[in-house]
Order: sequence, then structure tokens, then C-alpha cells
Amino acid sequence: MNYKLINIKVHGDERGKLAVLESLKDIPFEIKRVYWIFDTLPEQERGFHSHKDMEQIVVAMDGACDFVLDDGERTETVTLNRPDKGLYIGKNMWRVMKNFSYGCKLMVLASDYYNEKEYIRNYGEFKKSLK
Ligand code: TYD
Repeated sequence: MNYKLINIKVHGDERGKLAVLESLKDIPFEIKRVYWIFDTLPEQERGFHSHKDMEQIVVAMDGACDFVLDDGERTETVTLNRPDKGLYIGKNMWRVMKNFSYGCKLMVLASDYYNEKEYIRNYGEFKKSLK
């Protein structure tokens, strides 16, 4: 399975906490794009795609959601519910995001610019691409 959970370095004191991720040091790629997902609803699912050529780190900045990750052979579910945990998702992983808590905010760090051509949005095509 081409994913892993990363413990994000946290600096804390009486004023609060500060978490940090540095390109090519704490995460295995250079960050070219940051986007975030918010105003989600518990009954709405997202994702349903894989990336041919993109790596990502997802952090639940607030709230929680489940990531169902599928490498074509196995499926595993990871719950993201802490701002000090990053979910690294490598290439060729089908992902579905579900069970969003109200007010969940997901920040995504991506290894490349947005390019719809490198998405696979059809599950059959995803399976075929792995052969
Ligand atoms: P979509 O891929 O459906 O989101 P999710 O991964 O949560 O299922 O993206 C929603 C819309 O936003 C879609 O029209 C593509 C667009 N989009 C961009 O224009 N730039 C981006 O960087 C991303 C991630 C999406």
C-alpha cells in the first residue's frame, strides 16, 4: 500500500502549538500546490480517483474524516482527526473520502500543479492501469 501516516513535528509551549512540514525533509517531495477542502457534509463522499503522477500529504486541520485507500488489491481505511498527523498518499492509489465531521477542514500538499490529465476517475480504468 503506497501510503503512510506521518507524525508532524509540533512545537508547543504555554502560547499554543505550531506544527511544521518541510519539503524533501519531512515529506518525500517538493510542494508545488496547496489546497484545502471545507464546508463538507457527513453524507457527502469525495475523491473516487487515483493519480498517475502525483503525491500528496493530507492533514485534517480541524474535524475528522475517513480515507479509504485502495491499491487495486487491498483496501484500508485511515481516520484523520488530528492536525499533527499527515497522511502521505503516493501514486496509483484509489481514494475515497467519507464520514466527514461537520466543519472538517482538510489541507492537501501536492507534489505538482493541478492537471486533470493525470487523474484516473474511473475505477475500471484504475484497475487496468495497474497491469
Ligand atoms: P475534485 O477532484 O472533484 O475534488 P476531490 O478530490 O475532493 O474529489 O475537485 C473538485 C473541483 O475542483 C474539480 O472541478 C477540479 C477542481 N480542482 C482544481 O481546479 N484545482 C485543484 O487543484 C483541485 C484539487 C481541484
